[in-house]
Amino acid sequence: MAKRQITFLITAGPTLEDLDPVRFLSNRSSGKMGYALAEAALKTRHKVVLISGPTSLKKPKGAKFIPVRSARDMLTATLKQAPHADIIIKSAAVADYRPYKTRSKKIKKNTNRLTLTLIKNPDILKVLGKHKKNTQLLVGFAAETHAVLHHAQKKLFEKRVDWLAVNDVSRKDIGFDADENELLLLARDGRQLSFVKQSKSSLAKELITLFANEWSNKFGTPPKP
Ligand code: PMT
Repeated sequence: MAKRQITFLITAGPTLEDLDPVRFLSNRSSGKMGYALAEAALKTRHKVVLISGPTSLKKPKGAKFIPVRSARDMLTATLKQAPHADIIIKSAAVADYRPYKTRSKKIKKNTNRLTLTLIKNPDILKVLGKHKKNTQLLVGFAAETHAVLHHAQKKLFEKRVDWLAVNDVSRKDIGFDADENELLLLARDGRQLSFVKQSKSSLAKELITLFANEWSNKFGTPPKP
Protein backbone atom coordinates (compact mmCIF):
# COMPACT_ATOMS: atom_id res chain seq x y z
CA MET A 1 0.00 0.00 0.00
CA ALA A 2 1.53 3.30 -1.07
CA LYS A 3 1.94 5.84 1.68
CA ARG A 4 -0.06 9.07 1.36
CA GLN A 5 1.73 11.99 -0.20
CA ILE A 6 2.97 14.31 2.51
CA THR A 7 3.01 18.11 2.14
CA PHE A 8 6.24 19.67 3.38
CA LEU A 9 6.48 23.38 4.09
CA ILE A 10 10.16 24.34 4.17
CA THR A 11 11.70 27.75 4.84
CA ALA A 12 15.24 28.48 3.69
CA GLY A 13 17.87 31.14 3.33
CA PRO A 14 18.39 34.43 5.13
CA THR A 15 16.00 37.31 5.63
CA LEU A 16 17.04 40.83 4.64
CA GLU A 17 16.05 43.75 6.81
CA ASP A 18 16.23 47.06 4.95
CA LEU A 19 18.00 50.00 6.51
CA ASP A 20 17.73 52.42 3.60
CA PRO A 21 17.26 52.01 -0.17
CA VAL A 22 20.75 50.50 -0.62
CA ARG A 23 21.61 48.80 2.68
CA PHE A 24 20.25 45.95 4.75
CA LEU A 25 21.01 43.71 7.73
CA SER A 26 21.26 39.99 7.07
CA ASN A 27 23.31 36.85 7.83
CA ARG A 28 25.48 34.26 6.08
CA SER A 29 22.78 31.73 5.22
CA SER A 30 23.14 30.48 1.63
CA GLY A 31 19.90 28.51 1.58
CA LYS A 32 21.79 25.27 0.79
CA MET A 33 20.40 23.32 3.77
CA GLY A 34 16.77 24.28 3.11
CA TYR A 35 16.99 23.74 -0.66
CA ALA A 36 18.59 20.31 -0.08
CA LEU A 37 15.63 19.41 2.15
CA ALA A 38 13.21 20.57 -0.54
CA GLU A 39 15.02 18.53 -3.23
CA ALA A 40 15.07 15.42 -1.02
CA ALA A 41 11.34 15.68 -0.30
CA LEU A 42 10.58 16.17 -4.02
CA LYS A 43 12.71 13.13 -4.93
CA THR A 44 10.63 11.00 -2.60
CA ARG A 45 7.50 12.31 -4.37
CA HIS A 46 6.19 14.48 -1.60
CA LYS A 47 4.63 17.89 -2.15
CA VAL A 48 6.88 20.82 -1.31
CA VAL A 49 6.19 24.46 -0.62
CA LEU A 50 9.49 26.33 -0.32
CA ILE A 51 9.49 29.78 1.21
CA SER A 52 12.87 31.33 0.63
CA GLY A 53 14.75 34.45 1.52
CA PRO A 54 17.05 35.82 -1.20
CA THR A 55 19.69 33.26 -2.30
CA SER A 56 21.65 32.56 -5.47
CA LEU A 57 20.34 28.98 -5.72
CA LYS A 58 18.14 27.53 -8.47
CA LYS A 59 14.49 26.99 -7.53
CA PRO A 60 13.86 23.27 -6.99
CA LYS A 61 11.78 21.95 -9.91
CA GLY A 62 8.34 20.83 -8.82
CA ALA A 63 8.15 22.87 -5.62
CA LYS A 64 5.70 25.68 -5.05
CA PHE A 65 8.22 28.48 -4.62
CA ILE A 66 7.47 31.61 -2.60
CA PRO A 67 10.26 34.21 -2.51
CA VAL A 68 10.33 36.59 0.45
CA ARG A 69 12.69 39.30 1.70
CA SER A 70 12.18 40.21 5.34
CA ALA A 71 11.22 38.25 8.45
CA ARG A 72 7.80 39.87 8.37
CA ASP A 73 7.30 38.79 4.72
CA MET A 74 8.32 35.27 5.75
CA LEU A 75 5.88 35.31 8.66
CA THR A 76 2.97 36.31 6.40
CA ALA A 77 3.80 33.69 3.75
CA THR A 78 4.42 30.95 6.32
CA LEU A 79 1.19 31.53 8.23
CA LYS A 80 -0.75 31.44 4.95
CA GLN A 81 0.79 28.09 3.92
CA ALA A 82 1.03 26.40 7.33
CA PRO A 83 -2.59 25.16 7.60
CA HIS A 84 -2.07 23.05 4.44
CA ALA A 85 1.20 21.43 5.56
CA ASP A 86 1.79 18.07 7.26
CA ILE A 87 5.43 18.72 8.12
CA ILE A 88 6.91 22.17 8.58
CA ILE A 89 10.69 22.56 8.58
CA LYS A 90 12.08 25.95 9.50
CA SER A 91 15.66 25.91 8.30
CA ALA A 92 15.67 29.62 7.38
CA ALA A 93 17.98 31.94 9.27
CA VAL A 94 15.47 34.60 10.24
CA ALA A 95 16.87 37.93 11.44
CA ASP A 96 16.03 38.32 15.12
CA TYR A 97 16.08 42.13 14.82
CA ARG A 98 15.32 44.71 12.11
CA PRO A 99 16.05 48.43 11.95
CA TYR A 100 13.45 50.35 13.92
CA LYS A 101 13.07 52.66 10.91
CA THR A 102 13.73 51.97 7.25
CA ARG A 103 14.93 55.28 5.82
CA SER A 104 13.42 56.32 2.51
CA LYS A 105 16.67 58.08 1.53
CA LYS A 106 20.26 56.80 1.65
CA ILE A 107 21.90 57.50 5.02
CA LYS A 108 24.71 60.00 4.50
CA LYS A 109 28.07 59.73 6.24
CA ASN A 110 27.93 63.03 8.08
CA THR A 111 29.02 61.80 11.51
CA ASN A 112 31.84 59.64 12.85
CA ARG A 113 29.45 57.51 14.84
CA LEU A 114 26.10 56.23 13.80
CA THR A 115 23.81 54.45 16.23
CA LEU A 116 21.22 52.10 14.84
CA THR A 117 18.11 51.26 16.81
CA LEU A 118 16.84 47.77 16.19
CA ILE A 119 13.54 46.22 17.09
CA LYS A 120 12.72 42.54 17.63
CA ASN A 121 11.22 40.63 14.72
CA PRO A 122 8.35 38.22 15.25
CA ASP A 123 9.49 34.68 16.06
CA ILE A 124 7.85 32.71 13.25
CA LEU A 125 8.66 29.30 14.72
CA LYS A 126 7.20 30.27 18.09
CA VAL A 127 3.98 31.43 16.42
CA LEU A 128 3.81 28.15 14.49
CA GLY A 129 4.41 26.19 17.71
CA LYS A 130 1.44 27.92 19.36
CA HIS A 131 -0.96 27.23 16.50
CA LYS A 132 0.29 23.78 15.43
CA LYS A 133 -2.41 21.29 14.41
CA ASN A 134 -2.47 17.90 16.15
CA THR A 135 -1.62 16.16 12.89
CA GLN A 136 1.39 18.31 12.06
CA LEU A 137 5.07 17.79 12.76
CA LEU A 138 7.02 20.95 13.46
CA VAL A 139 10.77 20.94 12.97
CA GLY A 140 13.04 23.83 13.90
CA PHE A 141 16.74 24.36 13.43
CA ALA A 142 19.05 25.87 16.03
CA ALA A 143 22.20 27.71 15.03
CA GLU A 144 24.45 27.94 18.07
CA THR A 145 28.03 29.10 18.65
CA HIS A 146 28.43 28.18 22.34
CA ALA A 147 26.75 26.18 25.12
CA VAL A 148 25.14 24.44 22.15
CA LEU A 149 23.09 21.79 23.97
CA HIS A 150 21.93 24.16 26.69
CA HIS A 151 20.59 26.78 24.24
CA ALA A 152 19.12 24.13 21.96
CA GLN A 153 17.19 22.43 24.74
CA LYS A 154 15.73 25.80 25.77
CA LYS A 155 14.61 26.44 22.18
CA LEU A 156 13.09 22.96 21.87
CA PHE A 157 10.67 23.68 24.70
CA GLU A 158 10.13 27.42 24.28
CA LYS A 159 9.27 27.07 20.60
CA ARG A 160 7.16 23.92 21.14
CA VAL A 161 8.68 22.03 18.23
CA ASP A 162 8.58 18.25 17.78
CA TRP A 163 12.16 18.13 16.53
CA LEU A 164 15.06 20.54 16.67
CA ALA A 165 18.06 20.11 14.35
CA VAL A 166 21.04 21.63 16.08
CA ASN A 167 24.17 22.80 14.28
CA ASP A 168 27.31 24.32 15.72
CA VAL A 169 27.75 27.41 13.57
CA SER A 170 31.03 28.43 15.20
CA ARG A 171 32.59 25.90 12.80
CA LYS A 172 33.55 27.00 9.29
CA ASP A 173 33.32 23.49 7.78
CA ILE A 174 29.61 23.03 8.52
CA GLY A 175 26.50 25.17 8.99
CA PHE A 176 26.31 28.57 7.33
CA ASP A 177 27.29 28.63 3.65
CA ALA A 178 29.08 25.26 3.81
CA ASP A 179 28.38 22.29 1.54
CA GLU A 180 28.36 19.92 4.51
CA ASN A 181 26.63 19.83 7.84
CA GLU A 182 26.64 17.83 11.06
CA LEU A 183 23.56 17.80 13.24
CA LEU A 184 22.24 16.70 16.57
CA LEU A 185 18.50 16.07 16.33
CA LEU A 186 16.58 16.55 19.56
CA ALA A 187 13.02 15.29 19.89
CA ARG A 188 10.48 16.68 22.30
CA ASP A 189 10.03 13.16 23.69
CA GLY A 190 13.71 13.00 24.72
CA ARG A 191 15.20 11.11 21.77
CA GLN A 192 18.57 12.37 20.54
CA LEU A 193 20.01 11.37 17.18
CA SER A 194 23.43 12.32 15.83
CA PHE A 195 24.08 12.83 12.15
CA VAL A 196 27.75 12.72 11.21
CA LYS A 197 29.32 15.34 8.98
CA GLN A 198 28.20 14.77 5.40
CA SER A 199 26.92 16.68 2.38
CA LYS A 200 23.78 18.70 3.00
CA SER A 201 22.03 16.70 0.28
CA SER A 202 22.71 13.29 1.88
CA LEU A 203 21.83 14.67 5.30
CA ALA A 204 18.60 16.08 3.87
CA LYS A 205 17.67 12.64 2.48
CA GLU A 206 18.10 11.07 5.92
CA LEU A 207 16.09 13.81 7.63
CA ILE A 208 13.23 13.72 5.12
CA THR A 209 12.98 9.92 5.40
CA LEU A 210 12.92 10.12 9.18
CA PHE A 211 10.30 12.90 9.34
CA ALA A 212 8.11 11.28 6.66
CA ASN A 213 8.20 7.92 8.47
CA GLU A 214 7.46 9.55 11.79
CA TRP A 215 4.51 11.46 10.30
CA SER A 216 3.14 8.34 8.53
CA ASN A 217 3.43 6.22 11.68
CA LYS A 218 1.65 8.84 13.78
CA PHE A 219 -0.91 10.32 11.43
CA GLY A 220 -0.79 8.52 8.04
CA THR A 221 -3.90 6.78 6.74
CA PRO A 222 -3.73 3.14 7.86
CA PRO A 223 -3.47 0.66 4.97
CA LYS A 224 -6.78 -0.92 3.89
CA PRO A 225 -7.11 -4.63 4.80
O1 PMT B 1 21.52 28.26 4.57
P1 PMT B 1 22.83 27.51 4.79
O2 PMT B 1 24.03 28.33 4.38
O3 PMT B 1 22.80 26.14 4.16
O4 PMT B 1 23.01 27.29 6.36
C1 PMT B 1 22.15 26.44 7.05
C2 PMT B 1 21.76 27.04 8.40
C3 PMT B 1 22.99 27.14 9.30
C4 PMT B 1 21.14 28.43 8.21
C5 PMT B 1 20.69 26.07 9.01
O5 PMT B 1 21.26 24.80 9.19
C6 PMT B 1 20.17 26.60 10.34
O6 PMT B 1 20.74 26.40 11.39
N1 PMT B 1 19.02 27.31 10.27
C7 PMT B 1 18.44 28.02 11.45
C8 PMT B 1 19.15 29.33 11.64
C9 PMT B 1 18.58 30.12 12.81
O7 PMT B 1 18.01 31.16 12.58
O8 PMT B 1 18.68 29.54 13.99
P2 PMT B 1 18.20 30.20 15.39
O9 PMT B 1 18.79 29.31 16.43
O10 PMT B 1 18.54 31.65 15.42
O11 PMT B 1 16.63 30.05 15.35
C10 PMT B 1 15.96 28.90 15.84
C11 PMT B 1 14.76 28.59 14.99
O12 PMT B 1 13.80 29.66 15.08
C12 PMT B 1 15.03 28.38 13.51
O13 PMT B 1 14.23 27.31 13.06
C13 PMT B 1 14.59 29.71 12.89
O14 PMT B 1 14.11 29.52 11.54
C14 PMT B 1 13.47 30.13 13.81
N2 PMT B 1 13.28 31.59 13.94
C15 PMT B 1 14.27 32.37 14.47
C16 PMT B 1 14.06 33.74 14.65
C17 PMT B 1 12.82 34.28 14.24
N3 PMT B 1 12.58 35.58 14.38
N4 PMT B 1 11.87 33.50 13.71
C18 PMT B 1 12.08 32.16 13.55
O15 PMT B 1 11.20 31.43 13.05
